[in-house]
Amino acid sequence: MTFDDLKNLVQNSRCYRVFDANFYVSHKDLVDLVELARISSSARNTQPLRYKIVDKNPQKLEIFTPLRWASNLSWNGPSIHEMPSAFIVVCKDTNLEEFAVVDAGIAMQNIMLGLKAKGLDGCMLASIDKQKYKEVLELPQDIEPMFAVAIGKATQKIEMIESIDTKYYRNENKAHIVPKLPLSEVLL
Ligand SMILES: Cc1cc2nc3c(=O)[nH]c(=O)nc-3n(C[C@H](O)[C@H](O)[C@H](O)COP(=O)(O)O)c2cc1C
Repeated sequence: MTFDDLKNLVQNSRCYRVFDANFYVSHKDLVDLVELARISSSARNTQPLRYKIVDKNPQKLEIFTPLRWASNLSWNGPSIHEMPSAFIVVCKDTNLEEFAVVDAGIAMQNIMLGLKAKGLDGCMLASIDKQKYKEVLELPQDIEPMFAVAIGKATQKIEMIESIDTKYYRNENKAHIVPKLPLSEVLL
């Protein structure tokens, strides 16, 4: 893989929020993605993260319902016809949590890159209902949900632009526009 191939993958790995609810993602693909998370770097190699695959109703609907999507937009989020095919809920063992949030970011990015490499789309989500998820997923006492990664086949277009205004928006063609700060802003 060349640097340009990698940059292309990272560039195309955007957070999608509108999916084809009828698209099927195999359980094996989801396990493959957890495998990428499993081998991710971890502070002191503590490995506090645990993963729950949710690809079947009614659990899937219960995970989907509390989520808040694209709070910058005046939009209520995807309908049930636009919901993702599956979720990977990223959890932590509360006995090992020292750098869990950093580890989770690394693991989620690896999942995001992996699903793109599989021709899938996704979104990282912090807006989860931790208490509800714990009950719905019947998690053990010491395991706490932190994030969810939505996975499916996106039906929306995303374009990345360079701008010092970081607010994402939808353009007149309903494409989702994601501004990224120019290099001159971030390179100190
Ligand atoms: C840790 C984290 C949590 C996020 N939580 C949410 C969320 O709850 N709802 C949502 O719609 N997007 C969420 N996002 C997606 C961000 O809004 C998105 O990354 C940002 O708009 C930039 O778009 P991009 O990922 O395509 O570059 C989250 C992203 C990250 C990294």
